[in-house]
Amino acid sequence: MNYRHAFHAGNHADVLKHSLLLALVAALRRKPAPIYVLDTHAGRGSYSLVGDEATRSGEAMAGVHRLLGSVPQSQPLRDYLHELAAFDASMPMQHYPGSPCLLQAVLGAEDRMASCELHPEEAAALKSRLSGDVRIAIHQRDGYEAIRALLPPKFARGLVLIDPPYEAREAEFDRVLFSLEQILSRWATASVAVWYPIKSRATVRSFLRAASQLPSRAAWNAQLMIRADSSVLRMNGSGMLLLNPPLRLDEGFRPTLSELARVLGENGQGTGELTWLRRDGQPVQDP
Ligand SMILES: C[S@@+](CC[C@H](N)C(=O)[O-])C[C@H]1O[C@@H](n2cnc3c(N)ncnc32)[C@H](O)[C@@H]1O
Repeated sequence: MNYRHAFHAGNHADVLKHSLLLALVAALRRKPAPIYVLDTHAGRGSYSLVGDEATRSGEAMAGVHRLLGSVPQSQPLRDYLHELAAFDASMPMQHYPGSPCLLQAVLGAEDRMASCELHPEEAAALKSRLSGDVRIAIHQRDGYEAIRALLPPKFARGLVLIDPPYEAREAEFDRVLFSLEQILSRWATASVAVWYPIKSRATVRSFLRAASQLPSRAAWNAQLMIRADSSVLRMNGSGMLLLNPPLRLDEGFRPTLSELARVLGENGQGTGELTWLRRDGQPVQDP
C-alpha cells in the first residue's frame, strides 16, 4: 500500500468524482427517508494543498484551482464550490476535503455513514477529524470486506462509494466487479458510484461491458478526459460508473461534464461524455 492521495487531492479526477458525488447525495436526499452511505476507500478526510506532496505533483493547480478561477455555470459545480468554500474559505484554498468530509457536510441529522480506510495513518487522521460525529462510524479495515460485514443496512435507501487506488490495476477492476455483484445481491436498492482512472478509453471497455451485465435497475457512466488518450503512460482522464442512479441525475450532470472538459481540458483537448449502460433492467448499449 504505497498510494497516498495527498499527491492527487483536488486533481481533475477529484473534481469529477466529488462534484458528481455531491449531486448524487443531493438527489437521494430529495426524498424524506434517511439514507445510509458506505465509503469503502475513504482516505484521511482532508488534504493540504500547500504541503510538499501537493506542490510537488502540481495536480491541484491543474484541477480544482483552475475551476476556482472560473465562473461555474452548471448547478453541480456551483454546489461543489460552495462546499469547498464552506470547508476552507482561505484564498487561495489551502485544504481540500476528501469524500468523508464532503459527505459529512451534506448528510442530514437522521442519515448514517460508515467510512473505511485500510492505511493506519490515514485512518487515524480520519478518526481524529470525524469521531465526534455520532452519524459516522469510522473503520480501519478493508473496504471490500466491509461490504459483506455492513450491508444491508437498516435503511432501504443510500449509496456505496468505491474509490480504490488501482495500484494493481487489473486485480482492482476485478475486485470492484465482484464487489458490485455483492452489493446488488445484498442491498438491491442502493445507488453505487465507482471511480476509475483512464489511461486509454480502450482499456476500460471490458470493465464497463462487464458492469453493464450486472443486474442493476439502471446504470450510466460519466467520463472526463483532459487530454487525448494517445499516450497510455499517464492518467489522461477518469470516470464514474453509477449503478441505480437517481432519476434525471444524468440530465443535470451532462452540462457539468462539458463545462469540466472546457475548463480542465489541456490545450482544448478535454472531452466529457455520459453514456447509458442499462435502462429498465436491461443493457442498452455496448460500451
Ligand atoms: C483514492 S484514495 C480515496 C480518496 C477518497 N475516497 C476521497 O474521495 O477523498 C484511496 C484510499 O484507499 C485506501 N485503501 C487502499 N486499499 C484499501 C482497502 N482495501 N480498503 C480500504 N481502504 C483502502 C488508501 O490508503 C487510500 O487512502
